[in-house]
Amino acid sequence: MEVERVETGIPGLDELLNGGIPERNVVLVSGESGAGKTTFCSQFLWKGLEEGQNCMFVSFEEPPSQIREEARLFGWDFDKHYDKITIDGKDPFDEGDEELFWFRDELEKRNVNRLALDSTSILSLYHRDPYEIRKAIYQIIKVIKEAGVTAIITAESPEGSSQLTRHNVVQYSVDGIIALYFEDVGEKGYRSLQVRKMRRSEISTETVPFEITGEGIKAGESIV
Ligand SMILES: Nc1ncnc2c1ncn2[C@@H]1O[C@H](COP(=O)(O)OP(=O)(O)OP(=O)(O)O)[C@@H](O)[C@H]1O
Ligand SMILES: [Mg+2]
Repeated sequence: MEVERVETGIPGLDELLNGGIPERNVVLVSGESGAGKTTFCSQFLWKGLEEGQNCMFVSFEEPPSQIREEARLFGWDFDKHYDKITIDGKDPFDEGDEELFWFRDELEKRNVNRLALDSTSILSLYHRDPYEIRKAIYQIIKVIKEAGVTAIITAESPEGSSQLTRHNVVQYSVDGIIALYFEDVGEKGYRSLQVRKMRRSEISTETVPFEITGEGIKAGESIV
């Protein structure tokens, strides 16, 4: 039986994914600061909007106004699809952890197809105890899976380390992993990405270069 796939909207990446992300997969996008995680989220949701899908952006890091503004600079005017997208910000120091899952009901009520959550790393600010941090991350991924949406969740990779995320529970809990890398070679920085896992998929795991231009992220052979 064929798996239904969701195109990421990132030129060059869907080819590595054999067409896209399997529907209802929860996919981690990891990378250091500035790697392109937030841009990836916006581009993924923009593609959904173009296809008439209901989208939701849950941002723990930037206020919704900033997300909109940055997206607009790429030519993705979320306001044009105001009836199809919700951009929800949350300050982790605002309220208790029971509030962490406030978006769960929204996902169902609005019949959301695509979700972006940026980023899970901020969850570590809710707790001091590493066990509680891991539990919160596990629970939030579980909530997203149960909602049956196709989701991108991001996590910050520790600088200068080969670790993808600070808390391995993220890697184990998700259905797919796309790693964004930024490497200094001489005086220049090079961006590359790799699909490291994708459940229910045959994937190409080669590391390909990518760039971020005024039009967003382009990867692999789509770079000219
Ligand atoms: N309008 C634009 N045109 C071209 N490049 C851009 C534009 N906006 C952002 N970029 C590039 O994308 C990079 C940042 O991407 P992004 O904010 O998605 O990274 P991030 O991984 O989310 O970072 P952080 O961990 O700090 O949140 C910028 O450093 C810049 O190089
Ligand atoms: Mg970001």
